[in-house]
Amino acid sequence: MMFSHPFLQFSALLLSLYAFHLGYKRFAATKLGRKSVFAWKRHVLLGTLAMVIWMPGLGLGLLLAWWQWNIVFITGAHYQIALLMIPFIVFGYVSGYIMDKRKAKRSVLPLVHGANNLLLVLMALAQLGTGAKVLRDFVLS
Ligand code: HEM
Ligand code: HEM
Repeated sequence: MMFSHPFLQFSALLLSLYAFHLGYKRFAATKLGRKSVFAWKRHVLLGTLAMVIWMPGLGLGLLLAWWQWNIVFITGAHYQIALLMIPFIVFGYVSGYIMDKRKAKRSVLPLVHGANNLLLVLMALAQLGTGAKVLRDFVLS
């Protein structure tokens, strides 16, 4: 049970890395003038999966902390980065949803979406490090 949260969030991290790889191909085509094909539907599907795993996964982390220790917000950097991720997850999802539902020639929104989500992936990578410390110091000790 205590490993469900790390497992879910790590899966979402892998999905987001792949979604970023696909998104970068779009960036390379529209902004760098390279010849590359953007797997639009796959990007939307995997990106959406990553976001909808991260959000409830965050809630699950809090629930597990509460069940185990009867207190939340005790893991320092791990919960701080988690809270910081919330607005980025919401913006990344909403901006992607809009660009998918109403396709148009855009320059600024894709760039902001891509930069926002690059930061998000980096924060999730950092969570791998801080989360591993939580596992070592709080769960397995
Ligand atoms: C972790 C998840 C995600 C990452 C890392 C990511 C990353 C990116 C990147 C780097 C681009 C290229 C931006 C550019 O051309 O400057 C992009 C484009 C795009 N993304 Fe995402 N994205 C994610 C999630 C989503 C989601 C959830 C959706 C939709 C619900 C979505 C829809 C799109 C669409 C439609 C484009 C093309 C926009 C256009 O060129 O008109 N993305 N994404
Ligand atoms: C990817 C690797 C990650 C690992 C290994 C990890 C590990 C953990 C562990 C072991 C806990 C304690 C509860 C439990 O035993 O499950 C926890 C709590 C938590 N995690 Fe993660 N986590 C990861 C990613 C994330 C991400 C991406 C987020 C946010 C989107 C997040 C948000 C939280 C929150 C909010 C808590 C409650 C902490 C507190 O109340 O102080 N975690 N995590």
